[in-house]
Amino acid sequence: TRRVTAPVLHQYKRQGQRIVMITAYDATFARLVDESGADVVLVGDSLGMVMQGHPHTLEVTLEHMCYHARCVRRAVQRAHLVVDLPFMSYQVSPEQALLSAGRLVQEGGAEAVKLEGGGRADAVRKIVQAGIPVMGHLGLTPQSVHEFGGFRVQGREDAAAERLRQDALQLQEAGAYAVVLEGIPAALARQISQSLAIPTIGIGAGVGCDGQVLVMQDLLGLDDRFKPRFVKRFAELAGVVRDAFATYGREVREGSFPGAEHSFGPSPASPGGSSE
Ligand code: KIV
Ligand code: NA
Repeated sequence: TRRVTAPVLHQYKRQGQRIVMITAYDATFARLVDESGADVVLVGDSLGMVMQGHPHTLEVTLEHMCYHARCVRRAVQRAHLVVDLPFMSYQVSPEQALLSAGRLVQEGGAEAVKLEGGGRADAVRKIVQAGIPVMGHLGLTPQSVHEFGGFRVQGREDAAAERLRQDALQLQEAGAYAVVLEGIPAALARQISQSLAIPTIGIGAGVGCDGQVLVMQDLLGLDDRFKPRFVKRFAELAGVVRDAFATYGREVREGSFPGAEHSFGPSPASPGGSSE
C-alpha cells in the first residue's frame, strides 16, 4: 500500500477526503493503528499524561519524545508519522526549534513535527527550510495550560476568534503543511478550515475540520474515570482489561493456570507438551 506523506494529505484535502489521525506511544499499539488504515500516527506529548501519569504535558522532554518516537517508528509502515516538539524545545529561538526538530527526525524517525501556538512563523519557516514538514496546533494548546488557567475552550470571544483566524493564516504563510485545531467552537473551526488551503485536523473542534485526531487511550476507553465532552469511546477497554487481569489473578491463585497445555514435557517428543 501507498505510504501517506505530507503531499498526500494535501491531496486528501483537495479531494475532500477526511484525514484520520490517532496518537501512539509504543510499538504494539502503533502497529494496530497502522494496520487499521489510519492516515497519520501522532507521537503526542500527551504521553506526559497517558504514559507518565502527569496532570499536564509540561514535564515531557525531547529525550522522552525521541524514545517514544523510536518505539513507534519500528511499527509504522503506511501511516504518516508526526512527532510533537515538547514544551521548551522550540520556544527559545528558531535555531533551537530547528535543532529540536532535527533530533525528532534523526533520533525518532519523525516525518514531520508539530508545535503549538501562534506567533511562531519564524520557527516554522526555519524548520520548513530545512526540509522538515511542520504541523501547527492552535486553540486549546495544552502546553499553555497555566496561561489559560486550565484546559478551557479557546476562541469564544470575538477578539480571540479573530486572533485564531490570523494565527492559522500566518502558519500557512510560514509554510506549515497542516494545523491541529483543538478545543475551539465548531463554527470557528469550520470557518478556519474553509479559509485555508492546508488541511485542518480537529479535536474538540467539531466536524467542519478536514480531519480528526483522538488520543488513543481516550478512543479505546482505557481510562473510565473521566470523559471530556470532545471524547467518544469507540471501545470500553478499561473494563475488559481489568477483567482479564482479575481472571488471570484468580486462576493463578486457585492453580488452574497454567494448565497442562501451557506446560512443557521432559522432551520435545513426549506427550503432554511440546517445547515450542
Ligand atoms: O499530544 C497530543 O496527543 C496532541 C493531540 C491531541 C493533537 O497534540
Ligand atoms: Na501534543
